[in-house]
Amino acid sequence: MSLKLNTKYLENFIGEHEYQAVAHQVTAAHKILEDKSGLGNDFLGWVNLPTDYDKDEFERIKAAAARIKEKCDVLIVIGIGGSYLGARAAIEFLKSSFYNNLKKDTPDIYFVGNNISPAYLNEVLSICEGRDVCVNVISKSGTTTEPALAFRIFKKLLEDKYGKEEAKTRIFATTDKAKGTLKKLSDEEGYETFVVPDDVGGRFSVLTAVGLLPIAAAGCDIDKLMAGAREGQKKYSADDGNDCYKYAAIRNILYGKGKSVEMLVSYDPAFTMMGEWFKQLFAESEGKDNKGIFPAAATFSTDLHSLGQFIQDGSKIMFETVMHIKTPQSDIFLEPDKDNLDGLNFLTNQNMSVVNEKAYQGTILAHTEGGVPNIVIDVDKLDEENLGELIYFFEKACAISGYMLGVNPFNQPGVESYKKNMFALLGKPGYESQKADLEAKLG
Ligand code: PA5
Repeated sequence: MSLKLNTKYLENFIGEHEYQAVAHQVTAAHKILEDKSGLGNDFLGWVNLPTDYDKDEFERIKAAAARIKEKCDVLIVIGIGGSYLGARAAIEFLKSSFYNNLKKDTPDIYFVGNNISPAYLNEVLSICEGRDVCVNVISKSGTTTEPALAFRIFKKLLEDKYGKEEAKTRIFATTDKAKGTLKKLSDEEGYETFVVPDDVGGRFSVLTAVGLLPIAAAGCDIDKLMAGAREGQKKYSADDGNDCYKYAAIRNILYGKGKSVEMLVSYDPAFTMMGEWFKQLFAESEGKDNKGIFPAAATFSTDLHSLGQFIQDGSKIMFETVMHIKTPQSDIFLEPDKDNLDGLNFLTNQNMSVVNEKAYQGTILAHTEGGVPNIVIDVDKLDEENLGELIYFFEKACAISGYMLGVNPFNQPGVESYKKNMFALLGKPGYESQKADLEAKLG
């Protein structure tokens, strides 16, 4: 079994009767997800996506990825939130957090349009100098400010460098099938376009063209990724106490005991961006109506030297979900040293992964003894099948958990507030009346 929930370290925190007490809530959440009668039921396209996806478009994605590989040294992926995090997380998970520095026959990939920092954009522009560039601009709504602004700049760069005709063969747009400024612009300019299905929200879209094109362009096997997700769809389809539903139940039991922060932990930096993807998935899905578990993420042992103190000894507000990746991508055999001046010979004659494993074991015992519940998710290794299953596991757990909490897991009304203020302050037409009020508040 590739993915397995291990509840051994929860024994002192959750009794069997507590699982039984929430079982009816799990069943109710399962039922409204199945019969599509719950809140946000217009956005359930991700549930059957691993089996029910556009096979022709999937082949087009693979063909576009092959063309990108031939045509460019650098692929610029423009998008924010759900139109950014999944692709980057998958590439780092499957390749490396050093993907761009690896020797490879695929392009370097830089992600822009996920902030409004001019310095960040200038740095990526200077990285592109003297190199062949392609762009994948991704926006479901087609109107989000950050990617739209970055796309303006990269569109001009490509048109200045290659001329309009060649530029349009280097631009790939992933957006709504019919609506939005990006769709209109792409049709007018003649870009190849890919679709974000209407019924799949941004943070649930990594297994659509949103994630699949950049992931394929990085040389990852998207057939295997979808096969892993199909495995998840099958394993987590029934209300039979499966690991995914159990994880959702545990989160809600712990939340009921005052654990309002979940720290997703791994012992491999290749997983760090998955932590960012997880944060968006759960924060936007559950953080509403003045409720929700605050999702955080950490990479150990790095963060044991920063957050570790708080987790062990600070306010007892959190639980940890630990990704236990059993087989590293590669290993280092630690040779003994005859002088042993640094006293480290006790670590030697074994692989370095053994040391990492002991750090995991030691930490989990320390943290649980310190009063922090630990959920463990065992994963065999970082490959496409496991990633596909893991994505599906978290998406389904998030939906079940959100319904158990009584919120709509598929909207994000809170994200609009900053946008309205920003637009008003920038003088966007239609926001005139708010501008003066906001400026007065700023003083
Ligand atoms: O999950 C979401 O819906 C959001 O995070 C969006 O993905 C994000 O705001 C980007 O939106 P869009 O793809 O419309 O540009």
